[in-house]
This record gives sequence, C-alpha cells and structure tokens, in this order.
Amino acid sequence: MNQNIIISRNLHADLSAAIGRVQPDRLFVLTDTTTRDLCWPLIRESCDATLITIGATDEAKTLDSLASVWTALGDGGATRHSLLINLGGGMVTDLGGFAASTFKRGIAYINIPTTLLAMVDASVGGKTGINFRGLKNEIGVFSAASSVILDTQFLHTLDSENIRSGYAEMLKHGLISDETMLTELLGFDIFHPDFVHLKEMVAKSVKVKERVVAEDPLEQGLRKALNLGHTVGHAFESLALAENRTVLHGYAVAWGLVCELYLSATRCGFPAERLHQVAQFVKETYGHFAFTCREYDRLYELMTHDKKNSAGIINFTLLGGVGDIRINQQASRDDIFEMLDYYQ
Ligand code: GLY
Repeated sequence: MNQNIIISRNLHADLSAAIGRVQPDRLFVLTDTTTRDLCWPLIRESCDATLITIGATDEAKTLDSLASVWTALGDGGATRHSLLINLGGGMVTDLGGFAASTFKRGIAYINIPTTLLAMVDASVGGKTGINFRGLKNEIGVFSAASSVILDTQFLHTLDSENIRSGYAEMLKHGLISDETMLTELLGFDIFHPDFVHLKEMVAKSVKVKERVVAEDPLEQGLRKALNLGHTVGHAFESLALAENRTVLHGYAVAWGLVCELYLSATRCGFPAERLHQVAQFVKETYGHFAFTCREYDRLYELMTHDKKNSAGIINFTLLGGVGDIRINQQASRDDIFEMLDYYQ
C-alpha cells in the first residue's frame, strides 16, 4: 500500500507538498461541523478549496451523508483529477475516503486526522467506509490515501475522553508489538499528558500500524492483529448504540482488549500478570461497561457479524504473549460466556 505518512512539523508546507504530489485540477475539503469551526481555519490559507461539511459524530457516518458528499463533489465540478482533503476524526476520514474512492470510480484523497484515534488508526492503512443497518463500517473499500499528514497540534484542543479513546488503539499497538512499548504506554499519565512525549509515542504507534499494513494491506492474515480487542469491542459498541448509550470507540476497544486478553490467557497462555496490569489500567482509565447476563446472547449474536468471521464461526485475534500474535482463534459460545463472566 503506497501511502505517504508525514509526521508534520509544518502543516502548511507539508500540505502544499502533499497537494503538489497529486497536481489536482480542483480541491475539496471535507470537514464535520466541529472541525469546520476549529480546524479548517488552520489550513484554509494553504489551499484554495471548496468546503464540504457533514454532521459530527458517528451518527453522521451514513449513506445519506455519503450521498451529500458525492452531490457536493458533483455540484462543485469535481473530475477524476480532483482531490479531496479529509480534515477530521475517524468518521470524516473513513467516510471521506469512501466518498473519494467511489466518486467517478475513484479520485485521490489526503487525510489530515484531527483526533488521536484517527491519527494512530483510522486515517492510516486505507480502510474506508460507512455504517449500515446498525453495523459499524459494514460497507466500504480498501483504498489508500495519497498522503496522511499527522499534526499533533490538533490534540491540544481535544477533550480528555477523546484523547483516552485514541490511546486505546495505541495500547493495542503496544500489545501486538513489544514489552518495552507496552510498559511505556501503561506508565504514561494520560490524564495529564506531556504532549512532547505523546507525540513521540504517536509516531512509534503509527509505525506499528504501517509495518502491519505494508505486509498485509487487504487483511488476509497479519492485519487481523489490528483487530485485537475489536471483536468484543464492536459488540459492546453496537449494544450501546441499540440502547442509546453513548460509548466512544476507543473505550469499547479498551474493554474489548480486557475480554480478549482473558481469552488469550485461558487459550494461548498470555501471562496472567500482564492481563491484570492491563485490566487495572483499563478500569482506571476507561471505567467499566455495564451489562447483565441477560444480554450475553445479544452480545454473542453481535460478535457473529464481525468481518473476520468465516462460515459463521467467530474468529478472534489473540496473543500468546506481548507481541506473540495468534490470528484466526476460534472460541465456543461457552468460552465467550465465560469471558463475559470474567469481565463482569
Ligand atoms: N483498524 C484496524 C485496521 O486498520 O486494520
């Protein structure tokens, strides 16, 4: 996957260079209502673009929003040689990437992620898409951004919940990577972040994702490692959505990591001590996801929709230890119920 990832020191210069790589005939910038007000002023002078804005939050990640972006591109005279710049969190980079990849069978796009979650995960690696029929990212394509520009200045205005949400994906990268990285992550004060240190950790975290995606861009094997915590996390998120409870993606992933590390410990020998350290960190940082045993069947059913599954069997990514990745691990309904008991 040919994706130019830039850890930016000068947003204006880096964006001009990234636009220069594409040489577009017309420029469009996609924001949501929040990034239009907070972030668009920071790049407006670097690009003479038509602004397109969609609603904020994951609720706007719909077919209707997508159609509104296609309409705005069409009305604005976009051609195959135009460029879309997605300025926002994961919802904007996912939906914008999908809009660009399908408009006139595909135009180039650049991601400028403005949340920690989008910087370390969503904006990198070419997964694009929208939610559909209550299922997250159900419709989409793999299609790489021409450039991804990471500028951690956007994090200074991000609220603590969203910093913590993105941090869960960094924790996942530490778990699939090595002990040193995980220890650094567990020792970092995420409630009072040192932004210079955080920027270094973001760069390391993105490198982990880049390495995995370079080896397996279409998720045939190793890339499934990036789903650690997500089989259960997505089920928690979908349950919360159905019950009108607001849950940030990273929080659900953090809770899902604890569950899937429990399965890793019972099935693959993941060290119990590390499980307890991560579980403690997650409890202190993200609190607890409340559900009752009456919801186990529903959670199990939601896990059967996971995109890693085949032939109706739930496939987990588990770990034999930190950095010891075991993909395509199956667990029975009883194993999953026991895991939910542990989590409770
Ligand atoms: N968010 C997981 C991946 O990009 O594969």
